[in-house]
Amino acid sequence: MAYTKKDLQDTVKEMLGDRLLVIVSNREPYLHSIREGKICCSRPTGGAVTALDPVMRACGGVWVAYGSGKADKQAVDNNNHVKVPPDDPSYTLRRVWLSKEEEAGYYYGFSNKGLWPLCHIAYTRPEFNENEWRDYYNVNKKFVDAVLEEIGQRKAFVWVQDYHLMLVPQMLKKKRPDLIVSHFWHIPWPNSEVFRICPKQKKLVEGLLSNDLLGFHIRYHCENFFDTVEKTLEARIDRERYSIIHNGHETLVRAFPISVDFNAIEKKSNTPNMKKLVSPLIEEYNLHGIDYVMFGLDRIDYTKGIIERIRALDRFLEKYPKYKGKIAFIQIGDLSRIHLQVYKDLNDEINAVVEEVNWKHSTETWAPIIMVRRHLLFDEILAFYKLADICVVSSLHDGMNIVAKEYISARTDGDGVLLLSQFTGAARELSDAIYFNPFDIEEFAEKIRQAIEMPAKERKQRMTALREVVSEKNIYKWAGNIISEFGKIHSCSAAKRT
Ligand code: G6P
Repeated sequence: MAYTKKDLQDTVKEMLGDRLLVIVSNREPYLHSIREGKICCSRPTGGAVTALDPVMRACGGVWVAYGSGKADKQAVDNNNHVKVPPDDPSYTLRRVWLSKEEEAGYYYGFSNKGLWPLCHIAYTRPEFNENEWRDYYNVNKKFVDAVLEEIGQRKAFVWVQDYHLMLVPQMLKKKRPDLIVSHFWHIPWPNSEVFRICPKQKKLVEGLLSNDLLGFHIRYHCENFFDTVEKTLEARIDRERYSIIHNGHETLVRAFPISVDFNAIEKKSNTPNMKKLVSPLIEEYNLHGIDYVMFGLDRIDYTKGIIERIRALDRFLEKYPKYKGKIAFIQIGDLSRIHLQVYKDLNDEINAVVEEVNWKHSTETWAPIIMVRRHLLFDEILAFYKLADICVVSSLHDGMNIVAKEYISARTDGDGVLLLSQFTGAARELSDAIYFNPFDIEEFAEKIRQAIEMPAKERKQRMTALREVVSEKNIYKWAGNIISEFGKIHSCSAAKRT
């Protein structure tokens, strides 16, 4: 039997007892904006918040995050709180406010000009500068103050997320050594040769070593982290127990591959309403007469391999022109981090390549690539998953990739092919996907052919196996495993005190 939401609730009750659960992340799970004169609430894209929201819905608690929505200030009470989700309030979102300058230095600067390319190795040069580092430090402190305010005198488990907040664990532990602090790292951890170019590596690694538990998606990232620690500072590393002792404090390091709410997605994509959403898409995008729909859904980010995907489709159509007029590639791309030049350039480059490839292969009534630029509601995304014969995830490097698992969860018909980059964390678990190296355009084009020509029986066998994996290793299981580890740490520290 797969682990359920109820199982997670039981684990939380048993392990956390009366402790408050506090999540801290840069990105907030819900943001408020003004549309047609009214305040409305929407969900940002991005793997981390998508995965964590069902966990908080199940467990309750407080989520501390940067309030980035245009109407966020109007939506909170005097304590900067708002109950979310709006249709079923189950936990408290505590917003932290940042000035434009802070956002520029901490978020756009140190986090996304520095750490993001550093950890992804997608050949975009990381940039670090001292002023942005200062902002990063100060904003981390701001988050810590908000977390401490929320906790008050209570006991708590604080669960820090991602690369924006690497200093938070150390700052928290200094003020409240009794807190149990865990960090989940949502992106890859690179090898030590790469990480060592970061001028602040020692401070950052020390920050992480104040955690009681540090989670990565896969073991390979844990190993890379061990190597980095070994080369950066004095610490006792126990690779058998997956533990590091630094300055007398022990950090357990574990792999927890993140997932999705399989049951909820399955249920949603089976509703009669879903059928009503799929047929208008066929009209809207003129898909009559199309035999194969290939689909991609990404933030516009240079790690996602969007250009490579278009180049591979181009090569595929060059080699196999009989598919002209028969295949449509729908790419949904939410703009992201657009104040950074490299993201603006990427967006322009994508537009230019789409235009070039569409022009090259188009007929009077058909062009291969359809770019969808508007932000979609989750129901609409599910409709696209249902429509897509092939879902393509071609990241050049990715911690996990949630889209791959969402697609599988939505395919309640047991059909559909997942084309998956070998450089995603998901590739370690989803062995029935079709793997490829996105840097190898020739191979990528051949894999598109393989996906299209795969016999129905094989497609179903593979999808059934993939669905078993995601159903079993769902998001509740992921959170349950982490919280059980929290619990063990707590009982160890309680035993030490007695
Ligand atoms: C990745 C990161 C998340 C981040 C998301 C979206 O998944 O691991 O922390 O939230 O990208 O990026 P954004 O910069 O829009 O929050």
